Amino acid sequence: MLVLGIETTCDETAASVVSSERDGHGEILSNEILSQIADHAAYGGVVPEIAARAHVEVVDHLVERALAKAGVRLSDLDGVAAAAGPGLIGGVIVGLTTAKTLALVANKPLVAVNHLEGHALSPRLTDGVAFPYLLLLVSGGHTQLVAVKGVGDYVRLGGTVDDAIGEAFDKTAKMLGLPYPGGPQVEREAERGDPERFALPRPMLGRAAPDFSLSGLKTAVRVEAERIAPLTGKDVADLCASFQAAVVDVVVDRTRVALKLFRETAGHPSALVVAGGVAANATVRRALQRLAGETGLRLAVPPPALCTDNGAMIAWAGIERLRRGLVDDLSVAPRARWPL
Ligand code: KG4
Ligand code: ZN
Repeated sequence: MLVLGIETTCDETAASVVSSERDGHGEILSNEILSQIADHAAYGGVVPEIAARAHVEVVDHLVERALAKAGVRLSDLDGVAAAAGPGLIGGVIVGLTTAKTLALVANKPLVAVNHLEGHALSPRLTDGVAFPYLLLLVSGGHTQLVAVKGVGDYVRLGGTVDDAIGEAFDKTAKMLGLPYPGGPQVEREAERGDPERFALPRPMLGRAAPDFSLSGLKTAVRVEAERIAPLTGKDVADLCASFQAAVVDVVVDRTRVALKLFRETAGHPSALVVAGGVAANATVRRALQRLAGETGLRLAVPPPALCTDNGAMIAWAGIERLRRGLVDDLSVAPRARWPL
């Protein structure tokens, strides 16, 4: 099976061709991506209208490149998949309309993929993780713990009641004068900082339901930053390290609770899967590796290029859906909001 995947829900335009043998995992034949980070950096965050226009300018070219690098023609494909949401609606419209057009002219099935499902299924692309598994999805827009029981069979165990974790990283970075996107910057600063200098709160720690709350932590960083201003380089590094340590404690505690809930309601998970941009954070990954070891689970983290937004995860979700006969009509609508 050979599927083209298109991703345009946020600030990355991406197109990829993935192939797969019957029931096997996938082979990424091409994975083209163009980040708009430079277009948004001056604003300290993604500007939806700028994002939509930037997607329009490059998406055709990126699709062409993805097909060329994979050495396939449109007519060779078994389907065209696009992320149909959730995300910034202008961008979603661009990607989905492109996919619809290609599907129509080439007479191929269209698959409208939920972007979150793309993240959720991505570990099956690289190492064939078996259902069911516990998914910790941690990105700029989403923070959820989900029991993934099968394709299209997802039970949300918990999630954030305010900011997403990636968003908290981004806002903390902005507050400390670090450039956008903040996650990698905060991680870099934290490497040389003292994680114990600031006693920051661990919101929701110990709660029975595996939910998250990040806004209080972010506010606590601001209060500390204002208290000791003007900030030296050392202050910034220590604040980043203290913030990251608090996030890690919360993530491990919440995931442990979700795991207990999973075992009570959905049986034995085959793995703990971490996906989304924040999964690129080495300290978060190490802590989850320890948790997985303690609880007798395998930790599956997609390689960094598949953790952040990409086209391959959309193509792969397309393959998983096509295998089960799940195709969409050309009238399928783009969705800004679309729970998993
Ligand atoms: O999955 P993703 O590429 O896009 C969304 O769907 O949101 O995730 C991007 C998010 C951003 O908030 C970014 O700051 C965060 O992931 N991120 C990180 C790291 N790399 C990316 N957060 C913490 N540490 C990192 N190394
Ligand atoms: Zn994402």
